[in-house]
Amino acid sequence: MRTKVLLAYSGGLDTSVCIRWLTERGYHVIAFCADVGQGENLRPVRDRAYACGAEKVIIRDLKEPFAREYILPALKAGAVYEGSYLLATALSRPLIAQAMAQAAKAEGAAVAAHGCTGKGNDQVRIELSLKIIHPGLKVMAPVREWEMKSRSEEVKYALRHRLPIAHRRESRFSIDQNLWGVSIESGPLEDPWVEPPAAAYRWTADPARAPAKPERLTIDFRKGVPVGLNGRRVGLIDLIRRLNRTGGRHGVGRTDLMEDRLVGIKSREVYEAPAATILHAAHRELEHLTLDREALAFREIVAQRYARLIYDGLWFTPLKTALDSFIERIQEKVTGTVRVKLFKGNAACVGRRSPHSRYVKGFATYEGKDLFDQKAAAGFITIWGLPYIGV
Ligand code: ARG
Repeated sequence: MRTKVLLAYSGGLDTSVCIRWLTERGYHVIAFCADVGQGENLRPVRDRAYACGAEKVIIRDLKEPFAREYILPALKAGAVYEGSYLLATALSRPLIAQAMAQAAKAEGAAVAAHGCTGKGNDQVRIELSLKIIHPGLKVMAPVREWEMKSRSEEVKYALRHRLPIAHRRESRFSIDQNLWGVSIESGPLEDPWVEPPAAAYRWTADPARAPAKPERLTIDFRKGVPVGLNGRRVGLIDLIRRLNRTGGRHGVGRTDLMEDRLVGIKSREVYEAPAATILHAAHRELEHLTLDREALAFREIVAQRYARLIYDGLWFTPLKTALDSFIERIQEKVTGTVRVKLFKGNAACVGRRSPHSRYVKGFATYEGKDLFDQKAAAGFITIWGLPYIGV
């Protein structure tokens, strides 16, 4: 009997070539397509997998678990990598690995395969997650093994084997997208000095061409979870989609980053993540209203570590679970509403309120009824300065 391989299949060039390459080597390929909200019709993807030689195609709708179990924790944690990457691609990998591990068990596949290159983070995220969840599974990464050294060699291989790839329509960029954002790399972006051309972007308008009038919206949070938009309750996926559309129209959520990959390579990455940008800004704003200074400062450290472990493929680890407990605890008071103004590429928080607000107008005010005893400040400064000034 031929060995069954469960291959993570996107429908793109690399994984299409993977199917053929694996079948050529005698494997029985089961193509596994994950719907993480990439917004693509998966029917042609399925047909393409069969046309490339897959014996079975599995399509899994993972949008709900992606939003609930991956995007939400990252949002609550304030996870941002190197100051600007909101981790859309990185977050989807452990989920895809988890679903693959399940499918491999159900299908009796002893091998899992993916189409990641040996130079990126995704191979680490997928393989490490698979190893942790399903230690018995063998993992193959054809792209790391085969002789083809470039995209054009892969295209040649595909044409030689009559694989139905859309090579003429393939963009100059390497793109990964899901509900939480788009990651764009390669092509002209490989020169860090070159400004990303307009064609690099898919979701966002050029801020210079965005509407001349700002658009205001309100976002309601309950314990750190966004639950409402403009005063109406909205499901999480719907809310993210709407914010992607509205934010995108206003050119919100573009970033251009010289990024440090886990494997030691610096690479230039362009991202579009309108909803993620708006939600992170609003959530953070609400935390600043409802959390005390020490909690905020510590949460900042946690946010950085959390972002790093998502980036580094350490989702299924004890540290992640432990940090989740901290984050959940701290979100208890993060309930309220934030007003956001979208304008020419910016998402500015212009108003916030909460039943757990720690803001005391009587302390902050410069006029009227002052509750703050200014005379007490002199004593405070004396004691605060004691270690430096002495007697
Ligand atoms: N650099 C990002 C990451 O490691 C995105 C990689 C996305 N891949 C792509 N084909 N554009 O998470």
